[in-house]
Amino acid sequence: MPQPNAANVKSIKIAIVGAGSVGVTTAYALLLDGLAADIVLIDIDKNRALGEVMDLSHAAHFAQARVRVGDYEDCADAAAVVITAGVNQKPGQTRLDLVKTNYRLFRDVVPRIAQHAPDTILVVATNPVDVLTHAAYHISGFPLERVIGSGTAMDTTRFRHELGKHFGVNPRNVHAIIVGEHGDSQLPVWSLATISGMRLRDYCKAASIEYNESALEACAKRTKEAAYEIIQRKGKTNYGVASVLVSILQPIVTNSDAIMTVSRVGTYGGIEDVALSMPCKLNRHGAYQDVPLLLSESEEAALRRSALSIKEVLTALEG
Ligand code: LAC
Repeated sequence: MPQPNAANVKSIKIAIVGAGSVGVTTAYALLLDGLAADIVLIDIDKNRALGEVMDLSHAAHFAQARVRVGDYEDCADAAAVVITAGVNQKPGQTRLDLVKTNYRLFRDVVPRIAQHAPDTILVVATNPVDVLTHAAYHISGFPLERVIGSGTAMDTTRFRHELGKHFGVNPRNVHAIIVGEHGDSQLPVWSLATISGMRLRDYCKAASIEYNESALEACAKRTKEAAYEIIQRKGKTNYGVASVLVSILQPIVTNSDAIMTVSRVGTYGGIEDVALSMPCKLNRHGAYQDVPLLLSESEEAALRRSALSIKEVLTALEG
């Protein structure tokens, strides 16, 4: 992937809505990556945002970028606006309660972004990310390709990490994806997983290692449960998701046609008007093209179940 350089990032502005841990870690990761020259942090709590910006601006000193507190009008001309604002699930709160609160927030925030930055690309990270990507699409009125949810880009990263550990190869050399919901109904696409261009069974045969199905299933399970486990231990996730957000911004800023599993509104498994993750091509126009995926019959069925479970939440929300 072409790396950004001083010439092509010097005019790049990225706005981040939400100065919670995901928002500020994303700002920090963006700074270190040198992907943007102007990073704007927007939060309802201006004092907190200012504290974060003061701290970040000392890191910006080393990265030659500007980080500042802003308001919605500062989204104007941003290459992308990352939405991380929202509440996290509290004990005793149902998933639907969380959806309702964050949906209300999106109804307030998204029109303000759209008003000041009608040509920007929305990158949604707030959970439940598929439902809120769907909401952001309908509220903004933006074209499909300009409303992207971080989706299973996070899970795909975790899956490659797990498989890399299992096989003893660098995760970058594992080609395997998670599609569907960024949540419990996600599915690993085993039928297309490869290492060094070989399907996993062939790779195991060639490398004279056992194809251990239950160990591989455990990799997928750990992938799905990673966020729960991290949240149980430290109360949140931030570094992984922030790095994934930067990896989504990278092809947008560098116009490099990267294929990533991100969430977009579409028809999946025959279910219309739902957002979930499938591989898409990303460039400066956004997530502009689906990458065709030849799923096995059982994977098709699992994708449909995933689409249905997201659709159920959407229906409950509208009801
Ligand atoms: C995670 C949160 C972002 O998977 O959903 O880390």
